[in-house]
Amino acid sequence: MTAMDSFSSNPIGVYDSGVGGLSVLAAIRSLLPHEDLIYVADSGHMPYGQKSPEYVKERALKITDYFLNQNAKAVAIPCNTATAAAIKALRERYPQTPFIGIEPAIKPAARMTKSGVIGVLATTGTLLSQTFNELVKREAPNTKVLLKPCPGWVDLVESGKLSGPEVEEIVSEPLADLLKNDADVLVLGCTHFPFLLGAIRNFVGGELPVLETGLPFARQLHFQLDKRDLLNQGTAKGYFKMLTSGDPVWVQALTGDLLKSAVAVQKLPAAVC
Ligand code: DGL
Repeated sequence: MTAMDSFSSNPIGVYDSGVGGLSVLAAIRSLLPHEDLIYVADSGHMPYGQKSPEYVKERALKITDYFLNQNAKAVAIPCNTATAAAIKALRERYPQTPFIGIEPAIKPAARMTKSGVIGVLATTGTLLSQTFNELVKREAPNTKVLLKPCPGWVDLVESGKLSGPEVEEIVSEPLADLLKNDADVLVLGCTHFPFLLGAIRNFVGGELPVLETGLPFARQLHFQLDKRDLLNQGTAKGYFKMLTSGDPVWVQALTGDLLKSAVAVQKLPAAVC
């Protein structure tokens, strides 16, 4: 076994402000079943969407240091807000480490729209970021892009509320406005939001395209690892280890509900919290 072979069997660090990143887990697992994953839910510092980009960047650096101490071969960031705020700084600080970020599906939405209007639901941090605004200019120069920051949506998911009258009411408000203004494609630009898809569909119906980026993100992760010869060559199913800066008891219960399977959640070391 060469040194590279043994490095390729190291785990991948995956993190989000909380449980949102779990919405891309099925896609990662199906494309990369043999990879070991260490998932950090930074629940002690969520929601990222209302924090300053500097704060989100500090957390990114701290969590990345933790992953690298665990010998992670790559860091995957299924968090639109953290990607927008921090991925550039991470790549500058750790040029040898592959970082895979996520961004809202503006490009496919701009291609699909017939009305010329798309609606983007994301956090305030994402929508205000330079990265997002450059993405819109580049990929949708001739499309009307309506922006909806949905701060309450992340809190709903983090408190385990995915359905019921309160959820329907909170979710329907920005959606009603987007539909009224002719949006015919919706973009979920926050990884927490796919967990609210039931409530979203109840309001917009089954036909309207509602785009999320789990699969393209997993494909990109696969591509970046493959390109560097970093795919795990083992044949055993990879492990999934989960830690949080928040309350592990709560995060474990919530994760069990969202993934419909039991996952043990540990507290991150105090220095990372
Ligand atoms: N899940 C995250 C995103 O994709 C962040 C949500 C938050 O903490 O505000 O943007």
